[in-house]
Amino acid sequence: MNTNSLSSRDHLHIWHPFTPQVGADSNIAILKGKGSLLFDEEGQAYIDAISSWWVNLHGHCNAFIADKLKQQLGDLEHVLFSGYTHEPAILLAEKLKALLPAMDKVFFSDDGSTAVEVALKMALQYWHNKGETRTKVIAFENAYHGDTFGSMSVGARNIFSRAFEPLLFDVIRIPVPVKGKEEESVNALRKALDGNTAAFIFEPLVQGAAGMIMYDCTALDQLLEMCKLNNVPAIADEVMTGFGRTGKMFATDYCNTKPDIICLSKGITGGFMPLGVTMCSARMYEPYLTSDRTKTFFHGHSYTANPLACAAGVASLEWFEIGNVWSEIHRISEQLAQAKSALSTHPNVADVRLTGTILAIEIKSYEATGYLNSVGESVAHYFHKRGIIMRPLGNVVYVLPPYCTTEHELSIVLDAIAEFLNGQ
Ligand SMILES: Cc1ncc(COP(=O)(O)O)c(C=O)c1O
Repeated sequence: MNTNSLSSRDHLHIWHPFTPQVGADSNIAILKGKGSLLFDEEGQAYIDAISSWWVNLHGHCNAFIADKLKQQLGDLEHVLFSGYTHEPAILLAEKLKALLPAMDKVFFSDDGSTAVEVALKMALQYWHNKGETRTKVIAFENAYHGDTFGSMSVGARNIFSRAFEPLLFDVIRIPVPVKGKEEESVNALRKALDGNTAAFIFEPLVQGAAGMIMYDCTALDQLLEMCKLNNVPAIADEVMTGFGRTGKMFATDYCNTKPDIICLSKGITGGFMPLGVTMCSARMYEPYLTSDRTKTFFHGHSYTANPLACAAGVASLEWFEIGNVWSEIHRISEQLAQAKSALSTHPNVADVRLTGTILAIEIKSYEATGYLNSVGESVAHYFHKRGIIMRPLGNVVYVLPPYCTTEHELSIVLDAIAEFLNGQ
C-alpha cells in the first residue's frame, strides 16, 4: 500500500467509530461526491446505496444546497444561541412547524443522539416542573436511539452498550408490534403504563439499527392512543425515518394520533451538516412557560442551531418544494417494491421488508440474525468490489438510497444483491 495515501495516513492517527482496532480493513478515503456516487482517492466510483449512514437525501454535493450554504458562509458562520438568534434557525423552525402542525416548539441540538437526549430530559422535566416525580420510561425491544447515556439507556442492551450497562437507567421494554405481535405489544403497554410513567419512546414504523424491523401504523396508532388516554408523553424518534424515507415526510404522518415529542436529525440538512432537532407540542411546553428560573430547561450545546446547518436544513426543505423529490421517492419505492416481490421467494432469503424507500433483505444464515452475524462482512466486501457502498446490519442487507439515485443505478445495486444471493 502507498504509505503516503490518505488511507495510510488515516491509519496512523484516526480512531473510527464502530470499527475494531485490529483486523479491520483500512478506511477508504473519499475525495469527491456527486449525486448518488462517491469517488475514492484512486478514482474508483461507488454507488452510495445507504445514503452515508442514512443522512443524504438529495445526492452528494447537491448544487442547490451547496449554493445556499456558500451564501450563508458569507453572512454568518455561528453565533451563540442563548440570548441571540438568527434567520436560518427561524426559517427552519417555521418550515418544520408547517410540516408538523401538532408541534409547537423547536429545540436545536447537534445530532440524533442529542435530539433523543433532549427529548428524554424534556419529558422528565415536564413532570418535575408540574411537581411530580416520574421516572419510568417505556421503550421497544431491539430499540436503537443513539450512543449517549440517555439514548443508550432507552436502547436495547446489546454489544453496543454492554460495557456501560451498570450505569444505564432501567426502562420497561414492550414488544414491537410486528405482524402477529400487535396484541402482545398493546397489552404490554397497557400493563406498563402507570402513575410513574414519564414517557414512551419509539422508532416509528422502522427500527433501523435493529435490522430494519418494520411494523404497521395501525398498531402504532393504538399505542399512541393509549399514551394519550393515560396522559403519558409519546416520543417519536424520527431520526432515521424522517424526511421522506418511509414514503411520507415523516413516519408518524401515517398515524392518526400524533406524538408529543419528535426527534429529528440525519436527513434534516440533506446530509450536509450535523444537526439535531427536538420538537414538542404546546402541552409539553406549558410547564416551562414560567418566570420561575428553577423550571428553566438547562440544556444546550455550543453549536446549537449552527447557522450553516440550519441554512442547509432550509435549503433541503426548499429542494423538496422545487425539485422532483416526491416523484423520485415514488419511483424508488416502486422499483424496490418490484425487487421485494422478486426476492421474497429466493431460497436464501429468510425475509424481505419494505417501507417506502427502505428495502431490507434478511439473508438465511446458520448463525443467529444480528449485528455480529458473519454474513455481514462478506456482504460488505462483495459489494465494495462491485463499486457499491453497503453496510449490512449482520445478515440484514438493506437499500436506503439518496432520492436522486437513478433507476439504472438502483438496478445495479439490486442486481448485485440478487447475484450475491444466488452465490450463497
Ligand atoms: C432512530 C435513531 N435514533 C438516533 C440515532 C442516533 O443518531 P446519531 O448517530 O446522529 O447520534 C440513530 C442513528 O442511527 C437512529 O437510527
